[in-house]
Amino acid sequence: MDASAIILGAPTVLAGAHPLAVYTAHLIKALRPPTRFAAVLSSYGWAGSAVKQIQEILETSKIEIVGAVEVNGPPRKEDILDIVDLGRQISKKIKESLSAWKRGDALTDRECCIDTELRGVTVQVLIAPC
Ligand SMILES: Cc1cc2nc3c(=O)[nH]c(=O)nc-3n(C[C@H](O)[C@H](O)[C@H](O)COP(=O)(O)O)c2cc1C
Repeated sequence: MDASAIILGAPTVLAGAHPLAVYTAHLIKALRPPTRFAAVLSSYGWAGSAVKQIQEILETSKIEIVGAVEVNGPPRKEDILDIVDLGRQISKKIKESLSAWKRGDALTDRECCIDTELRGVTVQVLIAPC
């Protein structure tokens, strides 16, 4: 729960998100992790509603839902490209949020874990014990 972003993926089951995804979304909201951004991925057979349900659960949290991709049946290449695009948007948001930091700023307990890039690889840095 220290990640900068959460990608929650769930199929539609009985006119809602899979129960495990609903539980996870409630848990994220209740535990208030330092996570800043989220994206929701879902598939459905005849009427999608999982994305809306997860968005409604998370909308009162401080997490910004950057976007969602909802797919009818198995994903096609366009869907995969949309998901890759969403990943890029989230990566950009994380970098922007870190560049807003100024030298001398105090760290809050919600900012003690950050993701950063080291030689092209994203790594998580623990600045202080969480
Ligand atoms: C028990 C069960 C309930 C389902 N309920 C819904 C539903 O309410 N609405 C819907 O659009 N799809 C429903 N589906 C279809 C699934 O969302 C779909 O199978 C899943 O997204 C995976 O897609 P795929 O089977 O094409 O790979 C249900 C599937 C199962 C097995």
